[in-house]
Order: sequence, then C-alpha cells, then structure tokens
Amino acid sequence: MQLIDGKATAAAIKAEIAEQVNQIVAKGGKRPHLAAILVGHDGGSETYVANKVKACEVCGFKSSLIRFESDVTEAELLAKVDELNHDADVDGFIVQLPLPPHIDEQTVIEAIDYHKDVDGFHPINVGRMAIGLPCFVSATPKGILELLRRYHIETSGKHCVILGRSNIVGKPMAQLMMQKAYGDSTVTVCHSHTPDIKAECQRADILIAAIGQPAFVTGDMVKEGAVVIDVGTTRVPDASRKRGYRLQGDVDFDGVAPKCSYITPVPGGVGPMTVCMLMANTLLAGQHAVYA
Ligand code: GUN
Repeated sequence: MQLIDGKATAAAIKAEIAEQVNQIVAKGGKRPHLAAILVGHDGGSETYVANKVKACEVCGFKSSLIRFESDVTEAELLAKVDELNHDADVDGFIVQLPLPPHIDEQTVIEAIDYHKDVDGFHPINVGRMAIGLPCFVSATPKGILELLRRYHIETSGKHCVILGRSNIVGKPMAQLMMQKAYGDSTVTVCHSHTPDIKAECQRADILIAAIGQPAFVTGDMVKEGAVVIDVGTTRVPDASRKRGYRLQGDVDFDGVAPKCSYITPVPGGVGPMTVCMLMANTLLAGQHAVYA
C-alpha cells in the first residue's frame, strides 16, 4: 500500500505556481488576485477560507477577504458579487459555501461572472466541463485528477466508482473520470438510493468516496489492490484532541488501507489539493488562459 501524500504534492505545486508568478511579475505582468467572500462564522468555512488566504501568500498572489455577518441580505451579497465582477484588479473570486438558509446559493453562483468563477461552479463552466470545452474545473475533482496523474495511477479503461452525487464533487468527478481526455474510465455513481452499495464498491478499481459519512467505506467493501480516494472531512468529537474534534474521512482508513494499492489519508490527502487547485485556477484566470 502506498500513501498518496496530498500535502506534499500540494506544496510542490504551490512552489511551481510561485515560480510562475515570480516570472510574470519580473516581466512587469500583473500579480494574480483572488478575492473570497465569507458569510458568517461557520468553523469549517473559516478554516477553509483561512487556508485559501494562506495559500495565496505562498503562491505570491494578492488576496482579499470580504466578510459579511450571517444576517446579510441576498441583495447586499449580490451587490458585492457585481462589484467584484467589474473590479479589473480582481482576477478571480469565490463565495464560500454553504450560505445561510435565507440566501439562495444558486442565485449567487449564477451572478458570478463565469470568466472569474475560479470555483468552476457557474452553470457555464459546469456545462463546458461536461462536454470537454475549456473552462474552470472545480477544485476538488481537479485535485483528485492531479493526484492520480502525479502518482502515475492508470485510469484509462478502469472501473471508477464514485460515492456521492453533489454538484461540487460527485457529479463533476463522474464527468471528468468518464471523459477520454481525463479519466477515460468506466464510471458508476452511487448515492443514498443505490440498492447495494457494497457490491458496487467491490467492483471498483478506483473508489472515490464523497458522501460526508464518517468511516462509511469499510475493508469488506474494497477490492484487493484498489485505489481509494477519500474526500470526506467530517468533524467528529474527540476528547483527546486540543480542539475537541478530529477530521474523519468517509473511509475507515485502518480497515481499508491494507487492501489498497494507493490510498489518500484524512487529513493530508484531497483537502490540501483542493486549496492548491483553486490557486492553479486563479493563476489561469490571471493569465486569461481559459477565456481570452
Ligand atoms: N464549500 C466547500 N467546498 C467549497 C469550495 O470548493 N468552494 C466554495 N466556494 N465553497 C466550498
């Protein structure tokens, strides 16, 4: 079994990005600028956004964090989105999800100019991705593809089983894994109404778990030699930790790892790659490399 080290891979990629930024700035070019909108004080979102701001520093990007209290109106938030759409200094921006229940997430996502949608959540980017056109590919699936590529893991002709059908991970991951230019795999997507998830998982050469159910995937569900990618990051209570919780993936690591050829840990697997691919998308936005 080989551990897929997302933390080290992300650090290497961020160093590559920083080098490119140095070259751009040395030639008199513009330093890429990522803005992030954070609504409220959800612990997970605070951590994710702090990690994104920190990653911008490492990459040599300019970053702006725009905060709103959780009682912000949808109109106020949309006004800020409109302002960022028209701010020539901002190359790309994100609105951290989830948003409070009184705000319609889809309305906000669709208000973002797709040229600056470095999350790749706008329907234009999602649609273009689905038919293999240049677009911003959302960061988590892009990070997983990059891990598979950097570890020279063959995906072509393999059977990939994806647990979860979210717009952020499951659906785009399935689209990318089936496409000839990316995964070139045969793809099965499982969800809460799949009759026999265990049997589906047992057929997987590559198993990608993104359902947000701690330790859902157990050793008996995994084929000998499978590649297991764990997208889950649920906070579970843990009195032995200073913070009072630990991050638990969707995979029971100790039970599953001995059967795998490759496996991602939690933390230190997919998570750091997600932040890193947001940086990669911001660099592309700054270079107008996706959309002229
Ligand atoms: N919430 C959880 N993951 C993400 C992400 O990748 N982007 C944004 N904007 N919000 C998220």
